[in-house]
Amino acid sequence: MFARSLLRPAAPLARSFQTSAPRFSDHVFLHRNTPENNESIPFEFNAENSKRAAEIIAKYPPQYKKGAVIPLLDLGQRQNGFTSISVMNHVAKMLEMPPMRVYEVATFYTMYNREPVGKYFLQVCTTTPCQLCNSTAIVETVEKHLGIKVGETTADKLFTLVEVECAGACSNAPVIAVNDDYYEDLTPEATVKILDDLKAGRKPAKLGPQSSRLTSEPINGLTSLTSEPTGPGFRLQKALQ
Ligand code: FES
Repeated sequence: MFARSLLRPAAPLARSFQTSAPRFSDHVFLHRNTPENNESIPFEFNAENSKRAAEIIAKYPPQYKKGAVIPLLDLGQRQNGFTSISVMNHVAKMLEMPPMRVYEVATFYTMYNREPVGKYFLQVCTTTPCQLCNSTAIVETVEKHLGIKVGETTADKLFTLVEVECAGACSNAPVIAVNDDYYEDLTPEATVKILDDLKAGRKPAKLGPQSSRLTSEPINGLTSLTSEPTGPGFRLQKALQ
């Protein structure tokens, strides 16, 4: 009995902050060559993006063109699907930067996916305001409906699911970003409908709030600022009366 209790692991004193898998792009900060991500895979901007890249670089004084590293990495990710080592090397060459300086940027910002992701990159916000509005149910719904866990990609390469910190749309919590589009005021039912639309190749019927709201106005009408706004100099005018 005594020996048993010694072997039993001690109960944790506090719940860890993060209980789910970490972000997909955070798995390792090191690059390790894989068949789909190694420096022998060629990458260059296509004609359209070369033009865009030149426009971006032109915004910076020539001696500071390395300031364009963030938008160029983003452009590379959009063209390539993820920020591969070849994308980073190409950006380093264009900006005449040591490749290590580019790797430092790409590994610091979690917006750069350094591994391939699905066609639809699902970022579910699980920070406190979203969590209070039951983002846990949204994560569970996506996991159950797609048969993947946070950090995983579906076998058909359509969806990758990650958890993110505040997506900046707290007043419309809970929120999920699908590539560049936000879907807000989510319920499990609305989430399933969005996923089914995407799977079927349809654009979901409504972007933004999935409730009756248009943006982030109070759902049951105004509760403050209900009277006509006073004009400038209001207090002075009142004092002179
Ligand atoms: S906490 Fe989810 S958008 Fe801010």
